[in-house]
Amino acid sequence: MARLQIAVDHPDPAVITRAGLTLRRGGLVALPTETVYGLGVNAWDKEAVRRVFEAKGRPADNPLIVHLAAPDQLELVAATITPLARSLAARFWPGPLTIVLQAQATLPPITTGGLSTVAVRVPDHAVARAVIAAAGVPVAAPSANRSGRPSPTTADHVAADLGDRIDLLIDAGPTGLGLESTVVDATGGAPVIYREGAVPREQLGVAMASAQPDAPSPGTRHRHYAPRCAVEIVQPGQLQARATALASDGVRAGVVAPVHCRVPGAVTIAVFADVDQLARGLYGAFRDAESSDIDVLLCSAVPETGVGRAVMDRLRRAAEATVPQ
Ligand code: TXA
Ligand code: MG
Repeated sequence: MARLQIAVDHPDPAVITRAGLTLRRGGLVALPTETVYGLGVNAWDKEAVRRVFEAKGRPADNPLIVHLAAPDQLELVAATITPLARSLAARFWPGPLTIVLQAQATLPPITTGGLSTVAVRVPDHAVARAVIAAAGVPVAAPSANRSGRPSPTTADHVAADLGDRIDLLIDAGPTGLGLESTVVDATGGAPVIYREGAVPREQLGVAMASAQPDAPSPGTRHRHYAPRCAVEIVQPGQLQARATALASDGVRAGVVAPVHCRVPGAVTIAVFADVDQLARGLYGAFRDAESSDIDVLLCSAVPETGVGRAVMDRLRRAAEATVPQ
């Protein structure tokens, strides 16, 4: 694998051209987006897409998100563009909203996991858009982690999971948001959320009642990230008591805690000043927790509003996948 660094504010055109050509020729290119790093591939090239599933160890019925350089390319991949999709695209693109629509018949079934729909987004990242434009094709890009690992928010995370399985890694530094895009169905008249993500439910005008997505995405049928240490969600005011109790049982705890919270006796894995900082650092904290010498990671709960909903969704999945102490 070649690894190339690039500056987001003035990207080197030679790197962009090389990445575009690699994609066009069927190569696998890990690239930054504003959410997490993606593993890009020409969405029209079914053999190349097959290699993406193989590199990730991803089940074949879990479809990929197709990334475009600009909203006016939507017709390339979507067969029917509903008024709802037009208004969502106008409001949120480029940005971390993935819109599900009826797929063009020209898209290979492997890209859409055999569904008649396709998930599409235009990333809000200058390097990602420049690379897609240089490729001249729609770019299918799942998160650039091995299936069952946390999404990568740095190039080092990508290299650790996929270094020997891809052609090129574009390193533009840590991603800005740190949580995946919100996936929303826009085939009908009202949005249906498949995956909570970086665009909060409130901004989509979708009912707040449920703590779960409105409909499960195909991805939720599969095993999710299961950390190698246990994860517990703890109210911030209880962190200290929980850490003390664990320490007296000889259990080594790590914490992801608000900056103002002192938790003596526990290893600080990450601190955050607000929910956006937590979102940005959460997946890195999961990875750091696994490589540190702890048994349990205590993660501070956050209010379930705005991006806090997606944060709590990811924390619950991690906590449910582990055995409580
Ligand atoms: O922020 C993101 O969305 C990142 C960056 C790289 O763009 N990508 C990402 O892709 O998270 P991935 O493959 O890890 O997650 C895609 C999600 C899965 O939950 C998948 O099931 C869902 O989107 N999805 C894809 N196509 C779908 C469809 N046609 N209908 C419903 N859900 C779909
Ligand atoms: Mg993923």
